[in-house]
Amino acid sequence: MDDIQKNDKRTENFYSDAANYWSKVPATEDGMLGGFGFISNTDIEGSELFLRSAFKLKNPPRKEYALDCGSGIGRISKHLLTKHFKKVDLVEQNSEFLEAAKTYLAGRTKRVGEFFPIGLQNFCPEVGKYDVIWCQWVLGHLQDNDFIKFFSHCQAGLKENGVVIVKENITSSENVEVDTQDSSVTRPLKELQRLFDLAGFSSVKEQKQSRLPRGLYPVYMFILRPRKIIRNSVSNVLQ
Ligand SMILES: C[S@@+](CC[C@H](N)C(=O)[O-])C[C@H]1O[C@@H](n2cnc3c(N)ncnc32)[C@H](O)[C@@H]1O
Repeated sequence: MDDIQKNDKRTENFYSDAANYWSKVPATEDGMLGGFGFISNTDIEGSELFLRSAFKLKNPPRKEYALDCGSGIGRISKHLLTKHFKKVDLVEQNSEFLEAAKTYLAGRTKRVGEFFPIGLQNFCPEVGKYDVIWCQWVLGHLQDNDFIKFFSHCQAGLKENGVVIVKENITSSENVEVDTQDSSVTRPLKELQRLFDLAGFSSVKEQKQSRLPRGLYPVYMFILRPRKIIRNSVSNVLQ
């Protein structure tokens, strides 16, 4: 096996090991949160305030269409996104979680759009469809090159004034930490910002989630705008 083949094999294993891990996790809120189901309310309250702050930005996103990335059973769609957006699509690598989402989201059916059973590394959102693309507790399952590729696709998937909102664990060290159990990585703040930048996004707001139990990774939220749109709006101001 040459170096390229070895690298391809490592990538293949990175995604198949994660799929294998999640295939054994129960399709419940507690399962989605790795046994920390009791933090769900705190998490959603923090996200609610953060999302509201996105609607207060200059040139805010509209409230038409959101995409829940790595949605699991649709915890965020149910408690947050379908309360703010007319339609929400879900993308998730585990089709059984999406099947469970149909029951779990039963009370919100009118606001639920499409289900995409596919890994983000292979997903390309429809061009110009979304006002908000929400990525939470899933980006550690993407290798750097796929992270950048996925975010580049997200650029095209956003409507005018659309934003990507990211909520992820951050390492307290300067290092990327590898979890071989669920086949994921946790990145330090600088590394995450480097990847946003390489994918052509600028962070217009960052905030740490408060009131999480000690011993968990710090969790940060980001509102990201595609840089070319920022440039356009700057040039609009200058004209
Ligand atoms: C920690 S759970 C979070 C679920 C949901 N975002 C939430 O906060 O309730 C991670 C989810 O990401 C999904 N996932 C893992 N790797 C993925 C990938 N490459 N593409 C899409 N989803 C993935 C898992 O199947 C699981 O549903």
